[in-house]
Amino acid sequence: MAHHGRTVLVTGSTDGLGRWLAVRLATDGARVLLHGRSAERAARVREEIRRATGEDRAEVLLADLADLREVDRLADEVLARTPRLDVLVNNAGIGATSPGGRRELSTDGIELRLAVNYLAGYRLTRRLLPLLTASAPARVVNVASVGQQAIDFADPMLERGYSGMRAYAQSKLAQIMFTLDLAEELSGTEVTVNTLHPATYMDTTMVREGGVTPWSTVEEGGEATLRLVDAPDLGSGRYFDGTRESRADRQAYDPVARRRLRELSEGLVARSLGARKP
Ligand SMILES: NC(=O)c1ccc[n+]([C@@H]2O[C@H](COP(=O)([O-])OP(=O)(O)OC[C@H]3O[C@@H](n4cnc5c(N)ncnc54)[C@H](OP(=O)(O)O)[C@@H]3O)[C@@H](O)[C@H]2O)c1
Repeated sequence: MAHHGRTVLVTGSTDGLGRWLAVRLATDGARVLLHGRSAERAARVREEIRRATGEDRAEVLLADLADLREVDRLADEVLARTPRLDVLVNNAGIGATSPGGRRELSTDGIELRLAVNYLAGYRLTRRLLPLLTASAPARVVNVASVGQQAIDFADPMLERGYSGMRAYAQSKLAQIMFTLDLAEELSGTEVTVNTLHPATYMDTTMVREGGVTPWSTVEEGGEATLRLVDAPDLGSGRYFDGTRESRADRQAYDPVARRRLRELSEGLVARSLGARKP
């Protein structure tokens, strides 16, 4: 019961890596806040947890992360529902393949992969920071990828030269840049934030939809991600390729680029939500 007494929120826990993590964390004793966008899919995971543990250790929170108002509603619901949050895993994501290879936009008019894979987690984490801080020691784990591409700040919405892979890769680098930035901001506190490439081409919907033959199991990426949830003395602001510490794309270490990403993110949030909670 390694996680007894801990409350964990895993975004995108209706499939793939997130589902594996949610079931495993609940089996290890955690109270799990299951996030999904489909009530039916989330209910199935909740039932899986009930069967595996013999207890009702999971609660469902619904939100489409392609809509910042729903992200905010999700944050409000977490804050209303739980007095503590020990771990936030920003896992939900969409892969590089879109229908017809077309560029897609979120409800807020933001390039879709940037919105779902990065900005939703950025906003959710920022909204939940007071709760995480009050629950410290607490951890944030951002599930990124080895697939990374520098952000062109002249065209972050990829209006020119769009490709699904570029959109995916810039969103994943943005998650890593946010991790390093936030770790710096939180230094001296007991809230740590780390990021990883869980494993290469795990056998998940995202990979299968991309037409790729899986190379690794969900369990492999799951164990690597769990390490960032569990391992003692892990520190903060670190990027791992599986279980090995690694270097991200060099833009991640450029303080000017990180400041520009922060400004871009705040601007997009303000434009989408208007004057709301900071
Ligand atoms: N698979 C790999 O080899 C691999 C490699 C490197 C990194 N990663 C990263 O690992 C994470 C998990 O990926 P996976 O392979 O487990 O993918 P997956 O099986 O396709 O699961 C993705 C999860 O994200 C949810 N999601 C997607 N769009 C959403 C939205 N707009 N609002 C709310 N939830 C949404 C999905 O919900 P539904 O169930 O409703 O679709 C699902 O729960 C992603 O961040 C991915 O980039 C994966």
